[in-house]
Amino acid sequence: MSTAKLIFEGKEYEFPVFEGTEGETAIDISTLRAKTGAITYDHGYGNTGSCKSSITFIDGEKGILRYRGYPIEELATNSKFPEVAYLLIYDHLPTKPELLEWRRQLTNHSFIHEGMMNFFDHYPPTAHPMAILSAMVASLYTFYPDSETNEQVELNIRRLLGQAKTIAAFSYKISRGEPILYPKAELSYAANFLRMMFGSPAEEYVVSDVQERALNQLLILHADHEQNCSTSTVRMVGSSQANLYASISAGISGLWGPLHGGANQAVIEMLEKILADGGDYKKYVELAKKKDSGFRLMGFGHRVYKNFDPRAKIIKKACDEVLNEMGISDPLLDLAKNIEDVALNDDYFIEKKLYPNVDFYSGIIYRAMGFPTNMFTVLFSIGRLPGWIAQWLEMRKDPDNRIHRPRQIYTGENKRTFIPVDKR
Ligand code: COA
Repeated sequence: MSTAKLIFEGKEYEFPVFEGTEGETAIDISTLRAKTGAITYDHGYGNTGSCKSSITFIDGEKGILRYRGYPIEELATNSKFPEVAYLLIYDHLPTKPELLEWRRQLTNHSFIHEGMMNFFDHYPPTAHPMAILSAMVASLYTFYPDSETNEQVELNIRRLLGQAKTIAAFSYKISRGEPILYPKAELSYAANFLRMMFGSPAEEYVVSDVQERALNQLLILHADHEQNCSTSTVRMVGSSQANLYASISAGISGLWGPLHGGANQAVIEMLEKILADGGDYKKYVELAKKKDSGFRLMGFGHRVYKNFDPRAKIIKKACDEVLNEMGISDPLLDLAKNIEDVALNDDYFIEKKLYPNVDFYSGIIYRAMGFPTNMFTVLFSIGRLPGWIAQWLEMRKDPDNRIHRPRQIYTGENKRTFIPVDKR
């Protein structure tokens, strides 16, 4: 094992260096403070490895994304979402009997406790479904508080994966004042969700193949992305040994923001705004280059991908297919393509390595399927669930796991003397 040397205040210190299986190098500074009295400063954690993980590999420069070693392109083309969820959680592709059993269990656990139905009734009709999803997932613990043993954890994983889509669809139906539909055993994960969202008890809902395929692919593309904001949140909360439901609920909240999972909603809102303003997209590309304008091209840029986002490539193709097969022509898609063309040839975006990310086109597909804008991030959450679960489980099983507790550099006032209110 090699070492890295640090010279600090005239003294030399050595720190071990280790490599991951794909050759990524890390300097282990866990003894830095004890040895030197100093801490590292890494605003936004851009250079900090918070854990060792064998789940997802990303090479941002080369545009590579692999789950458990399998390229995202192969999984997105050949696999189904429950199969990928199994892979992420259990570290191997399921055999046929394993997959059948896994799917059976997810279906069996997709019915929510009837007691939870009361909760839905008391949200205002305008409630954002992300708020409902996060609250409902945390509330699952009140119905299933046994979460200590491995068997209990396994059961909770199935409940969570099975029920999240039911909760999401119910919150949508109730917000519209429409009757809910319970899951159907014979339908796939994606088809069940579409039926619960858009079906009605009045007539049998026929799930469109195109939509089922596209949703399945979108869920797979979102299934994990190593230590992003929401996943780090799941690990942060879980590091205190908080239960699975509480940890995932926190992750859902982390995902909600427009710089993370909320970007797909923000992209559509941005495109609608540009269209309503006459469609002059070049003006907005220019605006995005001016920092003080406060305007960013939503769906562009990524903390890790600095060449292209492999998920965006797959989604762009799927977007064309879905809209073509459904016979939909969406002015927002044309606008998105124009913005992409202009930005990809603009020095500002080239220099800063800003490319369309996964969220740039996903919203257009969701829109074509009939999902309202505020459900987009919910769809992302359902897709990301297996990744969060796998990461939480990996941390739980890690004998070296410690509660996550970063330090800070304090920049506030030095000690002050308290002055009573009548003397101030
Ligand atoms: N439009 C215009 N400029 C952008 C930009 C965008 N979408 N994204 C980044 N930049 C600029 C920043 O202003 C910054 O400029 P500077 O070097 O002059 O300061 C530079 O590019 C680096 O951006 P920064 O915010 O430091 O990168 P980050 O790694 O912290 O953030 C994102 C990454 C994804 C949060 C950021 O690119 C962004 O806000 N994108 C839009 C939201 C989005 O699509 N999120 C979904 C991610 S999957």
